[in-house]
Amino acid sequence: MLRLERRARRIEPGGERNQMSDNRYVRTEVTGAVARVTIDRQAKLNALNPEVIAEIDAAFAGLEGEPEVRAVILTGAGDKAFVAGADIGVLAGMGTLTGTEVSRAGQEVLRRIERFGKPVIAAVGGYALGGGCELALACHLRIASERARFGLPEVGLGIIPGYGGTVRLARLVGLGRAAELILTGDMIDGTRAAEIGLANAVVPHGELMDRAEKVAARIAGNAPVAVRMALASLYGSSESSMDRALDFEATLFGLLASTGDMKEGMAAFLEKRKPVFRGV
Ligand code: COA
Repeated sequence: MLRLERRARRIEPGGERNQMSDNRYVRTEVTGAVARVTIDRQAKLNALNPEVIAEIDAAFAGLEGEPEVRAVILTGAGDKAFVAGADIGVLAGMGTLTGTEVSRAGQEVLRRIERFGKPVIAAVGGYALGGGCELALACHLRIASERARFGLPEVGLGIIPGYGGTVRLARLVGLGRAAELILTGDMIDGTRAAEIGLANAVVPHGELMDRAEKVAARIAGNAPVAVRMALASLYGSSESSMDRALDFEATLFGLLASTGDMKEGMAAFLEKRKPVFRGV
């Protein structure tokens, strides 16, 4: 049975880490303005079965309503894997209709992450294969360690990436490189992933979470509504024409001009002090 209920807890500003929920496979902890969501099914290299997928969804649903949280780090437990894919044991039982359902169910959860109004950073320190690579692709940034291995090996199993991988990888690294990875099924390491823009950065393995925390803290220090609107404009623009995208950007820009955070950000600059953003 799924244990999706959240435990009551307070978010303390500052360094203390607070457990927000501990479902069977997905933990959420909050430190100050940064949440860490950890997928922990290490016996199967954190592979995504329906329970894991439902718990990831619940974790993000929970964080949506937390105004104190301004950035999220998504990672896999253990030293070996971010997520080694959708659970092949479950996929093996698919038929035509259930196959479409499996794909849609995964797509929906990853879409929630992509449309999440706060930046989500994937910290990838091991295998990010198949659905795991697609999960990382649905995040807004990807930090890889030197031990990261990205790949979409689906064609070797007689399927294709079905959680948005064919769509998002091509947008991120270009059609040619996406075709190469998807058609060969080959894995690439963190360094190569950073070279082709699949990862934003590659760092020594021991520094992975530190770097992800630093990037998250940097983002969390910016004006939260502006960060949200920046995401909306970035992702909205890839789904519409140039004219519509520019209209949308201008509208969001105008909306931001009515926020207290804009006044605070500009006043702080002019007064040569650090801004204090309130998210309104
Ligand atoms: N689904 C289900 N189980 C998986 C899995 C997946 N995607 N990936 C790994 N596992 C399981 C293995 O079956 C094994 O379980 P077992 O100990 O009960 O036999 C356990 O995780 C450890 O994996 P193992 O294969 O023994 O580790 P390894 O270090 O030898 O190899 C990989 C690591 C990632 C190369 C290998 O596990 C693999 O190829 N996994 C599948 C990757 C994949 O095709 N993903 C896309 C799915 S669409």
